[in-house]
Amino acid sequence: MKILGIGRALPAQAVTNAQLEQLLDTTDEWIRTRTGIHERRIMQDETVTSLALDAARKALADAGLTGRDLDLIIGTTALGDDLFPSIACLVQQGLEADCPCVDLHAACTGFIYALDTADAYISSGKAKNVLIISAEGLSRVTDWSDRGTCVLFGDGAGAVVVGQGEGLLSIRLAAQTGRELLYSASPAQPCPYTPSEGDGSWGIRMQGQDVFRFAVSSSAKDLQAAAEEAGMQVAQADWVLLHQANMRIIQSVRQRLGVDPARMPTNIHRLGNTSSASVPMLLYDLYHSGLLQPGHTLALSAFGAGMTSGACLIRWDKPVPHELRDHAETLFFA
Ligand code: ACO
Repeated sequence: MKILGIGRALPAQAVTNAQLEQLLDTTDEWIRTRTGIHERRIMQDETVTSLALDAARKALADAGLTGRDLDLIIGTTALGDDLFPSIACLVQQGLEADCPCVDLHAACTGFIYALDTADAYISSGKAKNVLIISAEGLSRVTDWSDRGTCVLFGDGAGAVVVGQGEGLLSIRLAAQTGRELLYSASPAQPCPYTPSEGDGSWGIRMQGQDVFRFAVSSSAKDLQAAAEEAGMQVAQADWVLLHQANMRIIQSVRQRLGVDPARMPTNIHRLGNTSSASVPMLLYDLYHSGLLQPGHTLALSAFGAGMTSGACLIRWDKPVPHELRDHAETLFFA
């Protein structure tokens, strides 16, 4: 498969670290130095579904396709507006698509897992064009009284349309059970016939330092394995795009693999951690910066609850449309 089009949608509201200082016992300095985050987008009038639809429409337009050209829609989200139906089903009508729709749950690694599934459908001939939408509203999962987690997350959606081609050079997925490291219990109604469990509260619970260690080691391992399968070193990739969880994780992986900082764009300072939407939104920013050129090799890597992780190598062959070149987004480099 190869990527035919890419889209992105963000809530209008930016919430700065200074605003969080009003809400929590925290400081801009702590958040910046420990995470690299300056601000994040938080939904106000938007919903996860509206962001997903917006990003999907942009990806289809960028691919020069319509919803009727799609053979499959795959959604990834930690928590959509509804527990069911799936986010993929919720956007189908808005895209005027007539194809199977399904959500795939691999937490922050969802986009990489979805690329693998899309490739399997396309390689087997079961689908020609697949839309992947990674849409997240983590502001609704976060426990806003927990300063150790709520400062990290943001909302947003990234989408790609993939079709037949030779763009995927290699992919590696992994998972190992580790609920205690990072989880959110499901919101559940009490049932009169079932003894209640827990205190009924839900929200992200995380052992930050263990997650940090998992993220660095799994990302480095996955990227090395994917690069080896593609017959190259990670440091030879033109661009290395990591899940935007923490700037210090990104820098640790960069140092471990000897990647040039100028090859590792980041947008965590503006968007925070947006779970599975993070990698496609960073790819969108790179594409719109005009820096990504046909023939470039991209290494993508993500990790998240499960614990899941995955990486892939992609050859980019899509020219940047001329009108996009004036819309460069601010990227930092690791
Ligand atoms: N503001 C001020 N102080 C804080 C804050 C805050 N927002 N949060 C925690 N602290 C305090 C703690 O209470 C602690 O204080 P103490 O020393 O008096 O006990 C101190 O800061 C240090 O806390 P640590 O948890 O040890 O801080 P650490 O350096 O580990 O940084 C962080 C925490 C940023 C969460 C880090 O561990 C991390 O980034 N881990 C990875 C998290 C991650 O990537 N999660 C998502 C991955 S998967 C996904 O995307 C869903």
